[in-house]
Amino acid sequence: ETVSVAGLHLLPGAIDMHVHFREPGYTHKEDWGTGTSAAAMGGVTTVFEMPNTNPPTRSATEMKAKQVAAEKACVDFGLYGLLAEDNIDELQGLIEAGANAFKCFMGNTFGNLPSPSTGAMLEGFEILAKTGHRISLHAETASIMALRQQKLQAAGCNYPLHHVAARPDIVAVEAVARAAHLAEWTGARIHVLHISSAAELIPLADAKRRGVDITGETCPCYLLLNTSDYDRLGSVIRVNPPVREAQDSAGLWDALLSGVVDMIATDHAPHLPEEKRKDIIWEADCGFPGVETQMPLMLTQVAEGRMSLEHYVKISAVSPAKSFGLWPVKGRIGVGAHADIAVVDLNRKETIKAERLHSRGKITPFEDVETTGAPVHTLVRGAFVQRDRSLVTGMAGHGRQVTDIQQMPEPAPKNADRFLSSVLAGKSL
Ligand code: NCD
Ligand code: ZN
Ligand code: ZN
Repeated sequence: ETVSVAGLHLLPGAIDMHVHFREPGYTHKEDWGTGTSAAAMGGVTTVFEMPNTNPPTRSATEMKAKQVAAEKACVDFGLYGLLAEDNIDELQGLIEAGANAFKCFMGNTFGNLPSPSTGAMLEGFEILAKTGHRISLHAETASIMALRQQKLQAAGCNYPLHHVAARPDIVAVEAVARAAHLAEWTGARIHVLHISSAAELIPLADAKRRGVDITGETCPCYLLLNTSDYDRLGSVIRVNPPVREAQDSAGLWDALLSGVVDMIATDHAPHLPEEKRKDIIWEADCGFPGVETQMPLMLTQVAEGRMSLEHYVKISAVSPAKSFGLWPVKGRIGVGAHADIAVVDLNRKETIKAERLHSRGKITPFEDVETTGAPVHTLVRGAFVQRDRSLVTGMAGHGRQVTDIQQMPEPAPKNADRFLSSVLAGKSL
């Protein structure tokens, strides 16, 4: 099979550390076939899939069931295990069954998984510090969030973000800071999911300065949308955490360009149009599909001069690979070396239309957005999964779990221990 790539660019396929493919349990919204098809069409060659399915991926049993569901994947994938209050004893089994990372829901979101206590988090962090598996955090403080939502609803507020209770971004600041402290004292590696506010960049940057192994992602919606889009988009825009003020987006752009935010992920969270279109915003399911639109949207930003193409490669492929153990270490293979490639046409103009998405969630806040730049072919380990803007048929089952190439870095020396020994030795900090 040959194609001409004259005038096109070969990029490493995007590695998306945050997708929800809904199987098992919510296959009317998505399954591993439709989800990975959307990824292939979006130039995404590896996805890490979240544990808030039904049942949630809370022990080896559910991990094995998810691996069976994922047998129809056409792109490569990692699988998240859950870190919750009641499954600390299952973490070792999840690792043995092949969990590639863990998600801890510190605040409530789709799936209604209760947030663990700080004590359970500490136990979980201690176990995972030993193996080096990164723990990704839905960093919102559950109790403050619940109180705020109650007050907003009672006040008849039909927007998810409104200054009724308190500074809404503080729910994330507190959660990021708390998780970073636990990571600092246990040596666990952590990752902050869906960073939406400028405020939570402060505990993130601070933890990085202290030497905590912490990474962060933001998503296209937080960079490209803000509260001024609520009137136009209504309940379609509902997502956890919510899109925030224009100044937050500006702060996120700076952080993405400077490296404080390490990577972009999509939080691909499909729901059916009828589950999204509601008169009362609180009744709409949160999230929307993203894995197919990320590359066109972000290449448009490259075309408009907001970011270099090299930087886009860094935030879409290199940083996720390095952070989650998919980078060449000890002579093993990593990004691009597998011929995981997105062949992109930087000049291609398209208009985003939900009805053309390969996800079952045919609704997007980016409807009718005109994009410049798109992946025209996608190759996973040297085989076409997308060709000439069409899905290649018969590739279900080509996708493999990354467990055999994933290699966790050596456990880092615990920074907190160093500080503590200076304090104990009577030295100033
Ligand atoms: C996600 C979902 O629907 O699974 N929704 C969302 O609004 N982001 C859950 C999540 O990532 O918190
Ligand atoms: Zn989340
Ligand atoms: Zn998510």
